[in-house]
Amino acid sequence: MATAFQYFGRLSFLLSLSLVHSASTSVYIVYLGQINHVNDPLLTSHYHSQLLTIVFDSEADAKQSMLYSYKHSFSGFSAKLNSTQATRLSGIKGVVSVFKSKTLELHTTRSWDFMGLPLDYMTPKLLTTPQQSVYGSHDVIVGVFDTGIWPESASFKEEECMKPIPRRWKGKCCAGQKFDPSVHCSKKVIGARYYLKGFEEEYGKLNTSTEYRSVRDYLGHGTHTASIAVGSIVQNASFLGFAQGIARGGNPKARLAVYKICWNYEPDGGKCTEADILAAFDDALCDGVDVISASLGLSPPLYPLFESSADIGSFHATQKGVSVVFSAGNDGPTPALVQNVSPWSICVAAASIDRNFPTQIVLDNDNLVLMGESLITKPINGRLAAARKYFEFGECKLENWNRKSAAGRIILCFSTEGSDVSLEAEVATWRANASGLILVEPPTLQTVDVSILPTVYLDIIQGTKIIHYLAQSQRTPVIRISPSTTVIKKSPAPITAYFSSRGPSSITPDVLKPDITAPGVTILAAWPTETPPTLFDKRTVKWNFQAGTSMSCPHVSGVISLIKSLHPDWSPAALKSAILTTAYTKDTTHDTILGGGHMKVSDPFDIGAGHINPMKAMDPGLVYDMTTIDYIMYLCSIAYTEGHIRRIVSLSKISSATCPKGSKKAYNINFPSIMVSNLQSQITIKRTVRNVSIKKTAIYFASVVKPHGVEVSVWPSVLIFSYFKDELSYYVTLTPTKKSQERFNFGEIILFDGFHFVRSPLIVRVNTTCTSSTISADTGNDVAN
Ligand SMILES: *[C@@H]1O[C@H](CO)[C@@H](O)[C@H](O)[C@H]1NC(C)=O
Ligand SMILES: *[C@@H]1O[C@H](CO)[C@@H](O)[C@H](O)[C@H]1NC(C)=O
Ligand SMILES: *[C@@H]1O[C@H](CO)[C@@H](O)[C@H](O)[C@H]1NC(C)=O
Ligand SMILES: *[C@@H]1O[C@H](CO)[C@@H](O)[C@H](O)[C@H]1NC(C)=O
Ligand SMILES: *[C@@H]1O[C@H](CO)[C@@H](O)[C@H](O)[C@H]1NC(C)=O
Ligand SMILES: *[C@@H]1O[C@H](CO)[C@@H](O)[C@H](O)[C@H]1NC(C)=O
Repeated sequence: MATAFQYFGRLSFLLSLSLVHSASTSVYIVYLGQINHVNDPLLTSHYHSQLLTIVFDSEADAKQSMLYSYKHSFSGFSAKLNSTQATRLSGIKGVVSVFKSKTLELHTTRSWDFMGLPLDYMTPKLLTTPQQSVYGSHDVIVGVFDTGIWPESASFKEEECMKPIPRRWKGKCCAGQKFDPSVHCSKKVIGARYYLKGFEEEYGKLNTSTEYRSVRDYLGHGTHTASIAVGSIVQNASFLGFAQGIARGGNPKARLAVYKICWNYEPDGGKCTEADILAAFDDALCDGVDVISASLGLSPPLYPLFESSADIGSFHATQKGVSVVFSAGNDGPTPALVQNVSPWSICVAAASIDRNFPTQIVLDNDNLVLMGESLITKPINGRLAAARKYFEFGECKLENWNRKSAAGRIILCFSTEGSDVSLEAEVATWRANASGLILVEPPTLQTVDVSILPTVYLDIIQGTKIIHYLAQSQRTPVIRISPSTTVIKKSPAPITAYFSSRGPSSITPDVLKPDITAPGVTILAAWPTETPPTLFDKRTVKWNFQAGTSMSCPHVSGVISLIKSLHPDWSPAALKSAILTTAYTKDTTHDTILGGGHMKVSDPFDIGAGHINPMKAMDPGLVYDMTTIDYIMYLCSIAYTEGHIRRIVSLSKISSATCPKGSKKAYNINFPSIMVSNLQSQITIKRTVRNVSIKKTAIYFASVVKPHGVEVSVWPSVLIFSYFKDELSYYVTLTPTKKSQERFNFGEIILFDGFHFVRSPLIVRVNTTCTSSTISADTGNDVAN
């Protein structure tokens, strides 16, 4: 650990802070695996108290230090401990792991939380007159782990004639600040729970003038994500007239259970602690949710899977048949920073959609006409000025601003980095009183977003034309910006968002992450009317644009819940297989999806199996399912002992948790993708598929696109399913044919029955430069070993 820290100035600063802290206590999570034998929450929590008393002087002290006892769906607790106590607990028999409760963040790109900007924006008033909600339908329950919801939003209205709440539902609607279950819960919003013991322990008492002590959403993020997943159908939604149309979630008929685990902490925004997250999993799995959607995570370095609440919670969810969908993070396009990489969950990357908002800029009465993108509602006239006049080095940053008023000016800024830079440029030019901003960026980097002052995004080719024009002009040019328009069917689409976190996974090398891609750029969805669309804003909106893998994640949760409603008996692995094997990799121009941020074709590290295709996913033909044995194999492959595995995995259906002798490789687990990160010599991989198509005949032919430098054979190459044989296995033999190291090559395996394309990405890294066996003679001439 220490050596990793020395490279990062900021991290070592944090490290020294935490060293100062270590004499006192922190919140730790003590994870104990499955609930033992009798499923009695009271007994389990009694056991937790007993364990905790071992490291305290008295029972009373132990009781006081406990935050949560996780006792419904798995066993564990969180408590305030010092490091000595934590170490002692980790040595006790039966304890799987002990780790500090970390804080996760929401995955929107525009967090408005950088550099301690003064917070003199309008503070939203807390709502005083909640509206009445009406009546309305279906039996898939989606749990959203987020910042809560704005219950008055039309997206959470009950549809007419909705069936009664399913009897299996055991959740609750909890009252709280400005949230009255009798008014705000319905047949649509059937659960409302909130968790803040971990938050308050870490960040002090909740400030109820900038957050609601209830599931009511203050930040807007949860309202946005929940409405993307399950929002009811609403006519005529738009953001100030843009993107006008019908708003609806992925599965408008699904029920919503709200679990608020992220809280506003000014000035940084949403904070979600692991102690609270695990409490939400413990309840949600017992309440009876079918799908969990969580648009949050922690930037790498990633922690071991069983030292992460999200990975532990999603593991138990999967064992109970509940699908968990996470966002991949917004750390792209740098490789290997993808988050939420556990093999049992779904990790979603983000892409653009086929919509844009062209905006015309005219200089000096038609001398120069350019097209950018914006969300401007009224024409803007002014004089153009280069950033250099107001900002040192021409960089539009607050600290570079020379305090000259830019009133009446539209400022031209060049930015070469990501969204934080554009946000900073907006704030800086806004403070300088400019009447507009033209922000020039490399193509496919930034996409249009809601701004505090009129901002037109322009690509670098056009931006360069303007700066040349400005240099030649004798006087400051007159500029006219026309209102933006909404255009759909823009091509090519989708394009992978530059910010979307890329694979490969830094801790699970033989598991492809991200899994899949969904829309996450300029997404219109519900918004709290008391929360301005940007933090420096006075506007009131019912709908707002947001970007991030936070937005792509609930798109997939919605689709998973739709498939679940058609196939209630499918396991989380089968549901995931259905969306992965039917995903597409070609855009509207029939070419491979472009990768934002690098302008080259996307590969599986950008988009996973591809872009989600909801219609095809309903009828995938075949599924790659997984059983407890697969999870045991996986745990063996990451060096878990049989003792540990017995504690974590529910073994009701199988007798023992024995790791197979010899090959304990993650690539042998029945994932719907194949990834081999260290291919040194010939290997054979097994996959098993099950027929789920209603067609009378199911004869599948295998075909292969070989990764470069790898010989691939699939056998048998024909799979014939029948009434008596709904599951068949095939084998893939991979033979390296080149001398190579470090590079990944991409291919695919397709099973085709004339109707269903069942496609699996095949990712191989040949690593033969050190071991020269089995290399064919025709390659490699410069290797000395
Ligand atoms: C940790 O807490 C225990 C129990 O309160 C105490 O006995 C011990 O001295 C503490 N250790 C440190 C390093 O503070
Ligand atoms: C709560 O937030 C308000 C508004 O930002 C601020 O004025 C107040 O000082 C905060 N209270 C505490 C206890 O931090
Ligand atoms: C739709 O919304 C727009 C903008 O909010 C409004 O001007 C228009 O009247 C609405 N149309 C209908 C049919 O409600
Ligand atoms: C910007 O405009 C406001 C309101 O007119 C004024 O109070 C402020 O001094 C101006 N700021 C600058 C830097 O000119
Ligand atoms: C490649 O093989 C060498 C020799 O076996 C091994 O040390 C190295 O870790 C391998 N590289 C990867 C990326 O697995
Ligand atoms: C494939 O499975 C489905 C559903 O389990 C079944 O209805 C269908 O008849 C099967 N097809 C064949 C050829 O066995």
